[in-house]
Amino acid sequence: MKVAVLGTGYVGLSTGVCLAEIGHEVVCIDVDERKIDILKEGKSPIYEPGLEELLIKNSTEGRLAFTTSHQQGLSEVEIIIIAVGTPQSADGQADLSFLEQAAKDLAEHIVQDCIVVVKSTVPVGTNEYLKQLLLGQLKNNVEIKMVSNPEFLRQGSAILDTLKADRIIIGTDDAGASKKIQEMYRPLNVPFLLTDVRSAEMIKYASNAFLATKISFINGIANLCEAVGADVEDVAKGMGYDKRIGTAFLKAGIGYGGSCFPKDVKALLHTSREKGVPFSLLEDTIAINDHQQELLVGKALKRFGELKGKKIAMLGLSFKPETDDMREAPSIKIARLLTAAGAEVAAYDPVAASNARTVIGDVITYLDSALEAAKDADGLFIVTEWEEFRQLDVEAVLDIMKQRIIFDGRNCLDAAVLQDCGPIEYYPVGKPAIILRGG
Ligand SMILES: NC(=O)c1ccc[n+]([C@@H]2O[C@H](COP(=O)([O-])OP(=O)(O)OC[C@H]3O[C@@H](n4cnc5c(N)ncnc54)[C@H](O)[C@@H]3O)[C@@H](O)[C@H]2O)c1
Repeated sequence: MKVAVLGTGYVGLSTGVCLAEIGHEVVCIDVDERKIDILKEGKSPIYEPGLEELLIKNSTEGRLAFTTSHQQGLSEVEIIIIAVGTPQSADGQADLSFLEQAAKDLAEHIVQDCIVVVKSTVPVGTNEYLKQLLLGQLKNNVEIKMVSNPEFLRQGSAILDTLKADRIIIGTDDAGASKKIQEMYRPLNVPFLLTDVRSAEMIKYASNAFLATKISFINGIANLCEAVGADVEDVAKGMGYDKRIGTAFLKAGIGYGGSCFPKDVKALLHTSREKGVPFSLLEDTIAINDHQQELLVGKALKRFGELKGKKIAMLGLSFKPETDDMREAPSIKIARLLTAAGAEVAAYDPVAASNARTVIGDVITYLDSALEAAKDADGLFIVTEWEEFRQLDVEAVLDIMKQRIIFDGRNCLDAAVLQDCGPIEYYPVGKPAIILRGG
């Protein structure tokens, strides 16, 4: 099938590459010339494991192309997938301006009957709104069918998640369009759920809000564990054995971030307020999440008395491991709180430093290794659970620090390893601190 994907961000690019991998002829369109130039050179503009290999393979084999020209990209396609961003507006609702522009671009350049698939995360009712927008501006006499097909991939495992998705949601009132989209995805051998458009749109928000709430719930339990002397990791393990609960998304820490959970929970809350249907659980999910970063910095403030003049090493900047994405990363708030309190912050991240610099700026310094960041530090913060930090040579890091104090915002380090590292003060989340004095 001939497919066009509009927007080559995390979702659009992963989708385009994977659809080419299963045999479709895909053209990815983006308005960002820099991105398209990089992609044409066979490179990925984002860090995503496995993506660049598939990009090179499918481009070389002639199934994958990139362009900034809607006219060129949309000629001859039968399916158009919209995967442009839907960021958060100032009032919490989803900003639909990229989608509106995409609809205008499509209206201008669609030259034959086709199915428009909305993959971007959009509030309930948006597919209908877009269809009206599109139909109202169509330049040519063509038939457009709409399908809501929300995306569930996770950054850091986007390719695997696309090729081995848990489910594919197809929301449409047109049986022919549904059949065609099922056909497109069939080689993936993933279960389909066929729904009406509005339910498909809601499934995405309900899923993200539920996962975010699970994280905030365990963080609330973690904070209680600290108060009563319990260990949240054992508690989560004990809860996870129950099949009704499961182990996923029960890791306590400094909260969720990224381009989805924060904005999607807020957008759903906005919808609930707009419709006059109270949903205070979502308010609590957000409030707990916002507080987690302050709690970690608060531990350092309590330990040091004040942070003025203290050097803090920060390990991890991206919002989660295996990505260079800094959108809504907890590191941003932590860096701001630490520097506002007068600390000097030296950070290291395996891939996100250059993106971090554009967000956090030069109020902190960016180093090339954990050891360089830790040199002469009074305290070390672990902010992102990169595997590299789980495997950290803790002894070597402690030896290079001025004071042997670690605040682990992701519970990355193994207590048994720490016991053998000599004197140490270790403050995890939701677990008792480990304090081993020397001599
Ligand atoms: N990132 C994720 O993990 C994830 C997961 C599931 C769903 N989503 C949703 O998918 C959507 C896309 O997210 P993303 O993270 O890939 O966004 P992104 O910001 O990484 O990418 C969006 C891309 O769209 C391009 N674009 C904007 N307007 C355009 C237009 N008119 N024509 C062509 N290209 C245009 C931008 O230049 C950009 O490259 C959002 O609605 C998001 O909520 C994201």
